[in-house]
Amino acid sequence: MKKEDFLSSRQWRYATKKFDPDKRVTAESFELILEAIRLTPTSYGLQPFKVFAIENTGLRQALREAGFGQSQFTDASHLLGFAHLEAFSEELIDRFAGLVRDIRKPEPEKIEGYASFLKNLFGSWTNDQKSRWADKQMYLALGNALQAAAELKVDSCALEGFDVEKANAILQLPEGLKVSAFLALGYRSTEDQTQHLPKVRVAHEDLFVTL
Ligand SMILES: Cc1cc2nc3c(=O)[nH]c(=O)nc-3n(C[C@H](O)[C@H](O)[C@H](O)COP(=O)(O)O)c2cc1C
Repeated sequence: MKKEDFLSSRQWRYATKKFDPDKRVTAESFELILEAIRLTPTSYGLQPFKVFAIENTGLRQALREAGFGQSQFTDASHLLGFAHLEAFSEELIDRFAGLVRDIRKPEPEKIEGYASFLKNLFGSWTNDQKSRWADKQMYLALGNALQAAAELKVDSCALEGFDVEKANAILQLPEGLKVSAFLALGYRSTEDQTQHLPKVRVAHEDLFVTL
């Protein structure tokens, strides 16, 4: 792959402030972004999060209010809510072990040994540790979705600027799930001046250190 091709989608993507409310992301592009989320690697492969596609306009308006009036909540074509597991039990590990059994058909004692290793490990963690770990895994998926969208020339904006308690009260997610970020997807408005601004990033030498 040429250097320019590799960098072009990364340069093109920017945090879209103003979406064109009349432009819709195609079902095909949307499904590809979801698939990129599903394929995201996570620690131990446990995928401790869920992603909600929020279509209801009333919910989106309420989220905009919880999100300090940010227009991306209502004007983007699609809105995804990224929710991590606040606490989890051995069921999460059993789900993973079951998938490995079905898909890879390993020798039973191998997957049982791995599952009991994970149960011991997570069994020693507090709910707070589990929640912070799950949130980190969720953010990997968010990052992957941002890049996937850019490759499809779909504009996006990750959104962390909202009142977490209010947003969770609005969404009324199943017990144990907490939204900590949203992803707005759509197409930039020609009026969004941010698209013309150069990227602000620290210099290579201020970020990377060779030891
Ligand atoms: C996790 C996360 C949360 C963010 N939350 C918001 C937000 O609430 N509102 C907003 O306008 N931009 C938000 N941004 C966009 C960042 O400010 C932006 O990505 C950063 O300044 C770099 O600019 P660029 O994405 O245009 O290259 C968020 C970005 C990330 C990754």
